[in-house]
Amino acid sequence: MHARGVRDQAHIRKSEYLRRDSCHVNMTFTTESLTVDEQTRRRLFTDARSPLAFADEPVSPAVIEAAYDLIKWGPTSNNSMPLRLAIADSDWARTVVVDAATAGNRPKVASAPTVLVVAADADYHEFSHVTAPGVAGLRERLAGMPEQRLTTARENTWVQLGYLVVGLRAMGLAVRPMTGFDMTAISDALFGDNAWNAQAVLTVGYPAANGEDGTAPRAGRPAWDDAARVL
Ligand SMILES: Cc1cc2nc3c(=O)[nH]c(=O)nc-3n(C[C@H](O)[C@H](O)[C@H](O)COP(=O)(O)O)c2cc1C
Repeated sequence: MHARGVRDQAHIRKSEYLRRDSCHVNMTFTTESLTVDEQTRRRLFTDARSPLAFADEPVSPAVIEAAYDLIKWGPTSNNSMPLRLAIADSDWARTVVVDAATAGNRPKVASAPTVLVVAADADYHEFSHVTAPGVAGLRERLAGMPEQRLTTARENTWVQLGYLVVGLRAMGLAVRPMTGFDMTAISDALFGDNAWNAQAVLTVGYPAANGEDGTAPRAGRPAWDDAARVL
């Protein structure tokens, strides 16, 4: 009760201030309820961009694995956890992704330190013994529902992709998510007959020096009053 009262008071007294960030965008920002520090807030959200250029430094697959180990704890429906990741490390795999890209996206993939393909595993039910150990017969039930599985896999992979962007940023990396690709071509070439369906490509690397990430000044976002309703 006391904690709630304190929070409500903080909400009423909230001091919003306009800050002009490094990208020259006015942002309204509220501090009172934030439970992470300033640096974390900036790194994960307000200063993080979708860069076109990165530092000239390789990214170890171990860092990507550490990001996955963070974000795998984010919620998905029935703990379905369908996101799968392919690191396009070899020349062969990267060429597949470059060739499947729209003309505009091709150089972005070709020049990125690391290229990740995010896929939705329609056979996520094969892991039911891990993700839903208390639900008897779930794997067998889902085995007879391939269309529903594909829908669930796609929807929840996109949920997890959001977590992944933030998780990679938490590892000190910069990320540009992209969907301008022939995803069927990528799935066929990289994943063959298995149930992994490519959904997005992430270019990943350590952040370029200030002002050198290739991005234009940052575009705005719909304000709270336009994006939310208290009903
Ligand atoms: C689902 C999704 C698809 C995107 N597809 C592309 C793409 O095909 N090519 C591209 O250059 N950027 C793509 N982007 C990057 C967005 O344009 C970028 O994240 C957005 O403009 C915000 O930029 P900022 O993070 O620098 O503010 C995509 C981003 C998302 C989340």
